[in-house]
Amino acid sequence: MTKLRNDTLIRALLRQPTEYTPVWLMRQAGRYLPEYNQTRARAGDFLSLCKNPDFATEVTMQPLARFPLDAAILFSDILTIPDAMGLGLYFAEGEGPRFERPLREEWEIRSLAVPDPDVHLRYVIDAVSQIRKALNDQVPLIGFSGSPFTLACYMIEGCGGTDFRQVKTMLYQRPDLLHHILDVNAQAVTTYLNAQIEAGAQAVMIFDTWGGVLSHAAYLEFSLQYMTQIIAGLRREHEGARIPNIIFTKGGGLWLEKMVSSQCDAIGLDWTIDIGEARRRVNDQVALQGNLDPAILFASSDTITAEVEKVLASYSHGPGHVFNLGHGISQFTPPENTLTLVNAVHTLSRKYHTD
Ligand code: CP3
Repeated sequence: MTKLRNDTLIRALLRQPTEYTPVWLMRQAGRYLPEYNQTRARAGDFLSLCKNPDFATEVTMQPLARFPLDAAILFSDILTIPDAMGLGLYFAEGEGPRFERPLREEWEIRSLAVPDPDVHLRYVIDAVSQIRKALNDQVPLIGFSGSPFTLACYMIEGCGGTDFRQVKTMLYQRPDLLHHILDVNAQAVTTYLNAQIEAGAQAVMIFDTWGGVLSHAAYLEFSLQYMTQIIAGLRREHEGARIPNIIFTKGGGLWLEKMVSSQCDAIGLDWTIDIGEARRRVNDQVALQGNLDPAILFASSDTITAEVEKVLASYSHGPGHVFNLGHGISQFTPPENTLTLVNAVHTLSRKYHTD
């Protein structure tokens, strides 16, 4: 059984009563923290940081030492899966992720194989166990993966920041090939997330950063369908505790009702949708995570506090809300503003959790 001292996040994801609204932040460990930059310099670069469980544990714990967050998130990257498939991930300084061998030829696509997490992603699984030890049941640990479609975008384009020309050409020209990649990715993500759960992840999140660039019909067929397949294959319990899952499609506010039918426990929202409206649309069938605009963290503490109150008031009374940003925290965020945000959520949310 779970002996978590603070299980507020887990209860909120399962829409059970809590005393206040739990909060964690996407990219809570990262470049806005000077101590992260120091550890990264010691590791040499970002990938060496991810691939060394001691360093990954150290940076996962850093934001928790500064802020009273209600969860830790595994420090890693979504692109570990295509790297383990042999595509050769690297980060060009200041340019984001790139692959040495993006998928170009049909034979390369046909020979993709599902990596064995205990072999090819051992460093992630080891990091999960080590982080659980370091956390000592203080707060839950969230594991994560990219969505099959978002991973496919990077695997086909070979880098980020593109117009999605190659992946969309394949989608309309050779949908059979894209479906093959997505099918392998969905199996890889399911196996990977289950291995994270077995190693100690207490909730899991699927990041679908690029599903929002698809048309309505294409989103359902090429992104949501595969996330639904993953959810059906995920372990729902481990050592007597429920392991809730969260799906997050950036720009996914259009598809909330469809996302509910994936059988997920929670939906992550970006900042473009009103969370109260989202709650009415999902009809309290799932929990909601979000959705402050990360740019609000550049404003004054009074503005941050007022904007936190707006999100809490819009969600309103009762369980099922996990406070977060609508996307990752910016590297230019002053750390003290993050503290203002976390404290504001804890203080201001209590009134929404009284009977
Ligand atoms: O939330 C957390 O604290 C956990 C860590 C985490 C990272 N990446 C660390 C990271 C998570 C959950 C991710 C997910 C991820 N990675 C996504 C999905 C979420 C999203 O942002 O939409 C995507 C698309 C990636 C791929 C990726 N990794 C990109 C596009 C970049 C460059 C972005 C940038 O800000 O420069 C990365 C690098 C990366 N991943 C960094 C961190 C802390 C910055 C690397 C550095 O230290 O230089």
